[in-house]
Amino acid sequence: MKTTSSSSAVGVWLIGAYGDIATTLMVGTHAITQSLASTNGLITSVAPFTELPLVELSQLRFGGCDIRDTRLVLSAEEVYRRSRTYSREILDAVCPALEHAQSDIATRTDFTWNPQQASSADTGPTLAERVDGMRQLLREFKTRHRLSHVVVVNLASAEPLAQPHASTHSLTGLEQLIQSNAKQHLSPSDCQAYAALAEGCPYLNFTPSRGGELGGLQELALRNRIPFGGNDGKTGETLVKTALAPMFAYRHLQVLSWEGVNLLGNNDGATLSHPENRTAKIANKGNVLHKILGYPVHSGVTINYVPSLGDWKTAWDLIHFSGFLDAPMTMQFTWQGCDSILAAPLVLDMIRLADFALRRGEAGPMRHLACFFKNPIGVEEHSFYRQFQMLLAYAQHHLGKRNTVTE
Ligand SMILES: NC(=O)c1ccc[n+]([C@@H]2O[C@H](COP(=O)([O-])OP(=O)(O)OC[C@H]3O[C@@H](n4cnc5c(N)ncnc54)[C@H](O)[C@@H]3O)[C@@H](O)[C@H]2O)c1
Repeated sequence: MKTTSSSSAVGVWLIGAYGDIATTLMVGTHAITQSLASTNGLITSVAPFTELPLVELSQLRFGGCDIRDTRLVLSAEEVYRRSRTYSREILDAVCPALEHAQSDIATRTDFTWNPQQASSADTGPTLAERVDGMRQLLREFKTRHRLSHVVVVNLASAEPLAQPHASTHSLTGLEQLIQSNAKQHLSPSDCQAYAALAEGCPYLNFTPSRGGELGGLQELALRNRIPFGGNDGKTGETLVKTALAPMFAYRHLQVLSWEGVNLLGNNDGATLSHPENRTAKIANKGNVLHKILGYPVHSGVTINYVPSLGDWKTAWDLIHFSGFLDAPMTMQFTWQGCDSILAAPLVLDMIRLADFALRRGEAGPMRHLACFFKNPIGVEEHSFYRQFQMLLAYAQHHLGKRNTVTE
C-alpha cells in the first residue's frame, strides 16, 4: 500500500471501543499489518486512492472509550466465539497488540443517558462535566503518544432520539444547552461530537445517532477548521438498495413497493430491537428510495432480532414494479453478510480519508464520503454509483488529474 504521509502516528479514538465493529477493526488492522490478511474490502488499498499520501495502517494508534467494563482481548474472544468473524490464527497473533492498546481504552459509564427519560434536574455529572471528561481523555491520549492528531469515530450503540430544540442550530445555543444540563435535548453522541470538534479532532459518525448533524456542531467544525462525516454506515441492505434502485429509474420501470426485512443477531440487533433505538435507522433505510427514484414508494423496513445469527445478518427485499403495458413484475434479493466484516474496512477507509482531509486544511462535512453512509450529511445524492463518482472525483482532484470517470 503506497502512502507517504506524516511521519508521526495518528490517533484513532473509538467511541464504543469494546463493540463488535471497533473490535473487528482493531483485529483487522493488526492482521493486515502483520501480513496475516489481505486488504480486501478496503477501497483505499486500490487505485486511485493508493496514489494519495494516506496514513499507513501501521501508523494508526488505537484508543477509545466504552460504557462497559471489559478488556479488548475478551471482546475479541467474544466476537470470535459468537460469530467466527475471523480465524483463531488471526486472533492469537493480534492478542499482544490488543493488550498493548488496553491502557488507552477508558470505561466511562457517565458517557451515556437516555434523553427521552432525562431532565435538567437529574443528579450525577452534568453535561458540561461529561464533555470536559471526554475532552480530557482525548488530550491525554494525544500527549501520551505524541500523536500529530486524533480522528474520533462514533461506533457506539444506536441511541434514542433527543427532543429537538431550536438552540441546537447555533454554536452559542448548543453551548448554552450544555451549560444548562439539558439532557433531554442533547444525546451522548451530540456531546461526544462536540468534545471531538472542540479538541480539533476530525469526527466520523458511523451510527444512526445524530452525531455531528446539529447546526451548532457544524458551526464549531467550520470555526475550528475540522472535517467531519456521517451518518450511519452503508454496509448491507441499503448498499444494495442504493446500487439497484437507479437501475429501475434508468429503465423507467415504476417501483410500486419495496419491502425489506432485516434479521440481525449481534448486540446491535439487540439494541435495535427496542423501538426507541431504531427510529433513526429505519428512517435512514427508508428515505433513500424516494430520493433516488424521485417519487414516493410504498416501502416498509423491519429489523428483527434473531440472536442465533450472531454477527451474520440476513436481509430479504421484495421489489414489486411495473413495466411496459403496466405489467407487474417482482424482483427479490437475499443478502447475507457479516456485519462487522462489512463495516470495519469502511471505517478504516474513512479514518485515512479524514486524516488526509485534515492535513489538507479541509473543514466541514466531507461530502465526498457520501458513498459510505445511509444518510450522508450535506448530500442529497443517494445513488451509490454517483456517490462513488464523487469520491473518485475528490481523489482525482487531489492528484491533479482531470476526472476521467465516465458513466
Ligand atoms: N455493522 C454494520 O453493518 C453497521 C452499519 C451501520 C451502522 N452501524 C452502527 O454501528 C454501531 C456499532 O455497531 P456494533 O455492531 O459494533 O455494535 P455493538 O453493540 O457491538 O457495540 C457498541 C458498543 O458501544 C458501547 N456504547 C454504548 N453506548 C455508548 C456510549 N454512549 N459511549 C461509549 N460507548 C458506548 C457498547 O457498550 C458497545 O460496546 C451501532 O450504532 C450500529 O447501529 C453498524
